[in-house]
Amino acid sequence: MASRKSSQPKRESRDKYSVLLPTYNERENLPLIVWLLLKYFGEGGYDYEIIIIDDGSPDGTLEVAEQLQKIYGKDKIVLRPREKKLGLGTAYIHGMKHATGNFIIIMDADLSHHPKFIPEFIEKQKEGGYDLVSGTRYQGNGGVYGWDLRRKLISRGANFLTQVLLRPGASDLTGSFRLYKKNVLESLVERCVSKGYVFQMEMIVRARQLNYTIGEVPISFVDRVYGESKLGGNEIVSFVRGLLTLFATT
Ligand code: GDD
Ligand code: MN
Repeated sequence: MASRKSSQPKRESRDKYSVLLPTYNERENLPLIVWLLLKYFGEGGYDYEIIIIDDGSPDGTLEVAEQLQKIYGKDKIVLRPREKKLGLGTAYIHGMKHATGNFIIIMDADLSHHPKFIPEFIEKQKEGGYDLVSGTRYQGNGGVYGWDLRRKLISRGANFLTQVLLRPGASDLTGSFRLYKKNVLESLVERCVSKGYVFQMEMIVRARQLNYTIGEVPISFVDRVYGESKLGGNEIVSFVRGLLTLFATT
């Protein structure tokens, strides 16, 4: 082959993916989700780290995380615990500050979000150079499994209300399985005012306002087998309050 001397190959492998895993009482789920993440990142040959943000879980999640760090190494498993339960939104922000990747993946630790979709997120992002890629339960092969009617109605209702009020141009607004360019996530976080579950919705609404490009990947969301959801009446009230605030201010 002719002179390739200075050819700086465009090495995609320079990309690094930081996964943020917020945990609250996920002792049973953590070893499996971590194992699956390692499997899919390993198979894809991607560079990655897993940042576990535990909020003082009484069930000993942090001890399990420490064991996993011993097994898989400190470069792969990063622990950024906090003293007590301070909410999902601030857990992401806290984790993000410690991320060394140029991409950040946000997902639940309870196996509702399957790591097998991550390579699809990554490929989708590369394909369109998207600022963020959002997993969607409401498009293509996406779906929800194991939720009762109440929970389905809450999710559909939250999405519907937000679609009508804010027209954000994405099909799943309350989902939280997403990949962001790190600088994009940082700029979104700066602008976000909400702290609880409503955070996910605000993030995508703000992304649209700032003209960030959004790719979507259909995902199946499977309800957790171990432990229980932390979404209660309080979170629903604060979701609606957050939605109305956004409606009034944007
Ligand atoms: N560190 C930390 N602190 N983690 C938390 C906290 C907290 O205060 N609250 C929840 N988590 C963790 C859980 O351990 C889990 O890994 C993840 O955040 C999601 O919490 P779940 O309690 O399992 O949420 P869910 O299944 O009811 O809700 C899911 O679906 C919603 C609607 O689609 C999540 O994906 C939500 O983000 C989403 O809005
Ligand atoms: Mn869950």
